[in-house]
Amino acid sequence: MSSHSSDASPESGNLAPIPKIRDGVVLVTGAAGYIGGRLVPELLTRGYRVRAMVRRDSPEYHARWPRAEIAVADALDERMEDLEKALEGVDTAFYLLHSLFLGLKKFEAADIKAAINFRKAAQKKNVRRIIYLGGLGDIRSPLSSHLRSRMEVAEELKRGPIPVTILRAGVIIGSGSSSYEIIQHLVRRLEVIFMPSLAKNRCQPIAVRDVIKYLVGTLEVPETTGGHFDIGGADVLTYEEMLRVLSQTLQKRRIFIYLPFLGLRVFAYLASLLTPVPAPITKCLMEGLKNEVVCQENRIKEYVPFEPLPYKDAVVLALGREEQDQVRTRWSDAYPPAHGLAVKLHEMETGPCYSARYSLMTGKSAASLFGSLCNIGGKEGWFENNWLWRMRGMIDRILGGVGTSRGRRSYGGLMINDVIDFWRIEDLREDQRLLLRAEMKLPGKAWLEFSIEEVDASRRLSLLAHYDAEGFWGKAYWYACLPFHHFIFKDLLAAIEKRS
Ligand SMILES: NC(=O)c1ccc[n+]([C@@H]2O[C@H](COP(=O)([O-])OP(=O)(O)OC[C@H]3O[C@@H](n4cnc5c(N)ncnc54)[C@H](OP(=O)(O)O)[C@@H]3O)[C@@H](O)[C@H]2O)c1
Repeated sequence: MSSHSSDASPESGNLAPIPKIRDGVVLVTGAAGYIGGRLVPELLTRGYRVRAMVRRDSPEYHARWPRAEIAVADALDERMEDLEKALEGVDTAFYLLHSLFLGLKKFEAADIKAAINFRKAAQKKNVRRIIYLGGLGDIRSPLSSHLRSRMEVAEELKRGPIPVTILRAGVIIGSGSSSYEIIQHLVRRLEVIFMPSLAKNRCQPIAVRDVIKYLVGTLEVPETTGGHFDIGGADVLTYEEMLRVLSQTLQKRRIFIYLPFLGLRVFAYLASLLTPVPAPITKCLMEGLKNEVVCQENRIKEYVPFEPLPYKDAVVLALGREEQDQVRTRWSDAYPPAHGLAVKLHEMETGPCYSARYSLMTGKSAASLFGSLCNIGGKEGWFENNWLWRMRGMIDRILGGVGTSRGRRSYGGLMINDVIDFWRIEDLREDQRLLLRAEMKLPGKAWLEFSIEEVDASRRLSLLAHYDAEGFWGKAYWYACLPFHHFIFKDLLAAIEKRS
């Protein structure tokens, strides 16, 4: 199902075509994230020896980047052995680690600790150069805690002897970027858009392809070593203007009303209920409205000369990618905060304590059943009883979870680790199996395992619900849901079969 079965570059650049290749490996940390997932194929296309660092290995990474080495390391791991192994023989390391998903209270400490560990390990392994992509903001004004933390990470990396190049970007516009998905959903969903007075502040949004060009360009121009550069797109606009341009592009007439008395947190919470992006991220991003996020200097143009895209062009490109179902990476690619949620079904020591199986027989082909099955969630919904799934999703959002509105990256090219609403794909075997792991707020861990088996001349389409309960409330939850499961899952299987 994957549309990423090669490491071909998506970000066709207009940089000088012949890179200055040095010996040694280029390490991309945060390769599973939004920026890292786009940088890896670009570097491979340009002929670099690339090592992609991820926190958990998955067959999907090997399929996505067959010519890259995959290193598995958690920068918060005190033993640092994995991190040092990932840095072995590395010439230049891109530092793209970030833990925004942890929410405002926790991510600062995690990001600093990761930077300290990384700096020490890189020093031990004699890394020649680090390139860090951080946040843009005027350091002469009080910064939001998110921007301050991004700058503290830069300072921490610079504390060692390895020269660190710092690129500072503001709002990144591209298919699958969190900022773009927020504004796009607000404009699509609301006739009247209420805004905080801070939406009059200015920012300099940059297209994701230009960010990738600057990252690659910085690697290829040695004179940028140890320097710091602001990077931005061609336009400086207010946040309100960003929404207006998008509504004009989508040909939607919208009314904009300022509500100066409502706090940013209220707007952030409402945005999390109205868009796919959950509250920990909307809070951090909305807090960023406090600052003017505009380039203070343009020295990068001396070293990496090209004309960055205007905001409207970036939006049109992002919309095009979505329409063609070609979103390559998405903000939801990075894992959710509780890494307990990343425990795989086969890694459970004793196996989940509860399970329930539902199945039906059909004469339809495995390929058509699997195709129909892979359409669940996102804008297609959950076929039958969709309102019940959506209601569960809304409760999840209200509780601070990811909810069903999180949607999905792709319809035609699902990959392992993709999200489908409040599930994440744990296993995907064409025409045979789809295993989804729950990332909703639950007193336990849950999986939905769909399978298609040949039985004589027919196919058996099955759904096995696994649940590992936590304590009394976990058990109570399972028994409370059991009667609903019976008809929800049976109806879902019937709908998958009918649509196949
Ligand atoms: N995206 C934007 O709109 C934007 C705008 C301006 C600046 N930036 C900057 O660009 C950089 C990259 O951002 P992004 O959007 O690509 O972030 P992202 O999608 O959240 O990815 C961050 C990556 O860091 C990894 N990570 C976090 N903690 C780790 C740890 N302890 N050990 C190993 N890996 C860890 C995550 O791994 P898991 O997948 O395992 O969680 C994830 O893959 C950040 O510095 C950010 O400030 C981004």
